[in-house]
Amino acid sequence: MRKTIVAGNWKMNGTTESNKALLENLTAGLNAVDGLVTLVCPPAVYLAQVKQQLGNAPVAVGAQNVSAQPKGAFTGEWSLAMLQDLGCEYVIIGHSERRSIFGETDNQVAEKVAATLDAKLIPVLCVGETLEEREAGETINVVSNQVEAVLARVGIAALANAVIAYEPVWAIGTGLTATPQQAQDVHKAIRAQLAASDDSVAENMSILYGGSMNAVNAAELLAQQDIDGGLIGGASLKADEFLTICAAAA
Ligand code: G3P
Repeated sequence: MRKTIVAGNWKMNGTTESNKALLENLTAGLNAVDGLVTLVCPPAVYLAQVKQQLGNAPVAVGAQNVSAQPKGAFTGEWSLAMLQDLGCEYVIIGHSERRSIFGETDNQVAEKVAATLDAKLIPVLCVGETLEEREAGETINVVSNQVEAVLARVGIAALANAVIAYEPVWAIGTGLTATPQQAQDVHKAIRAQLAASDDSVAENMSILYGGSMNAVNAAELLAQQDIDGGLIGGASLKADEFLTICAAAA
């Protein structure tokens, strides 16, 4: 069943105090809505605090990254077992900032997705093109290659348990949002790519949009047939704005 998901990617932001206040305001204004998943992804160092403070609130917790390794001499990394231990349900994988700043390759992303699925957590696979790639008419090629790298590694049946987020790199943190039609075109292409392997998986895949989604533009984006939610950066750090987006998705 295709879920609507509004996910907050807090990126490298927050303090114990600011997290506490954000979560208080978020939970005070959030109503559980059937079929809507609300998710927050704090920095790893705050996962325990966030999970503990949320308690039974209708908000899932996710990580922004994870090692594909099960355990061992990987300084600075954390494992899926640790995320399970903390009660995490989702993991953002392959965010464009991980790819561009930290050099994560399609193969590394695919291995992380495979390990996350094996651990029964839900990977949120991020894909998206740069402005140069869009201007060169390469958007669909770039995105489909990123999807294919994971599909080839895990197979369509396993991918059914993942979420995909289309995040045009040129829209991330820039205030330059893709138009609803631009986003819909790419979401539709991703769903068609999946349908070539399995119609049911394609139909039930939640495909989120990320890239300067905010309280003003969320409703029009979420009204698109193949946009099943948002992966929100800056706007997720403001409870009222994030709640407005959740309400638009409900
Ligand atoms: O992962 C979501 C993020 O990349 C989008 O950031 O600030 O453009 O909403 P922002």
